[in-house]
Amino acid sequence: MPDNVGSYAVAHLAGDGIGPEVTAVARDLVDLAGKQHGFTIDWRHCPLGSEHYLRTGEVLPDEVLDGLRKTDAILLGAVGSPQVPPGVLERGLLLRLRFDLDLYVNLRPAKQRPGVDAASAGDLDFVVVRENTEGLYAGAGGIVHRGTAFETATEESLNTRAGVERCVRYAAKLAARRSGKLTLVHKTNVLTNAGSLWMRVAEEVAADQGVSLDYAHVDAACLLGLSASGNLNPDKTGPSMFEPVHGSAPDIAGTGKANPAGAVLSAALMLDHLGEPEAAAELEGAVDAVLAHGGAATTKAWADALAEQLARTEVTR
Ligand code: IPM
Ligand code: MG
Repeated sequence: MPDNVGSYAVAHLAGDGIGPEVTAVARDLVDLAGKQHGFTIDWRHCPLGSEHYLRTGEVLPDEVLDGLRKTDAILLGAVGSPQVPPGVLERGLLLRLRFDLDLYVNLRPAKQRPGVDAASAGDLDFVVVRENTEGLYAGAGGIVHRGTAFETATEESLNTRAGVERCVRYAAKLAARRSGKLTLVHKTNVLTNAGSLWMRVAEEVAADQGVSLDYAHVDAACLLGLSASGNLNPDKTGPSMFEPVHGSAPDIAGTGKANPAGAVLSAALMLDHLGEPEAAAELEGAVDAVLAHGGAATTKAWADALAEQLARTEVTR
């Protein structure tokens, strides 16, 4: 075991539905990888989500947010429950964390995994970089003349040059380290104002970073399913947050059927971000190995198979 024992403070925000089940698997696997690679995680339980809201009326108290600011990373399960009106937790918890922690990059790697050929796309391997703090989600807009025939609801899409540019720059730098190919995904044929700004900035930044630039409409690009994500503060002025792309799946919550692969791959992104790339690669390798053997039918079977794979990696290392 290496003697430079690192320690990271990670908030475990399990959240709703299957969130607790899948992040419990990820958390155990991270601890196991830590034993093998000589780091420890100081897990900080963060009981936010629908239950907490229904019991206390609190979504994200300021002092909890301040506590989260002091962590090295946040591992999030999923947010949202049929018992809570739409938007309360999505806006008040998830989006508030993204905005207040300035997690302006939403990183979503999409890769063809062994045994999963749903995409039928051959050697699929790309990374989605989604702007995470502006656009339609920024919260600009409102409702006027509520309850009348002329009730008007607006959501304005906010796109600042600075906000677009820092996101595109992150993506272009990532592309330069990978294939050298950057694709802007937008809906420039309809959203012509925002589309124009994004296109011009992407052209400038791609030229500046020496990567090729391609374009696809969002509807064409959405044909593929993605699994893990990181909400990044690339400047590392605070913690970044990692979550599976799937939602809280209340229909299967508690049945033991949830697949923890997205949570484990999100934990792998987290380890990479924390400076533990070998442990991250082993977590990802364990997921691939389990998939190559046909996956597993239950959360528990996934957890056991992943732990076994990780132990095996250790023996051969
Ligand atoms: C996601 C989720 C969120 C989003 C919602 C819940 C705000 O669907 O992380 O993909 O659209 O970003
Ligand atoms: Mg989504």
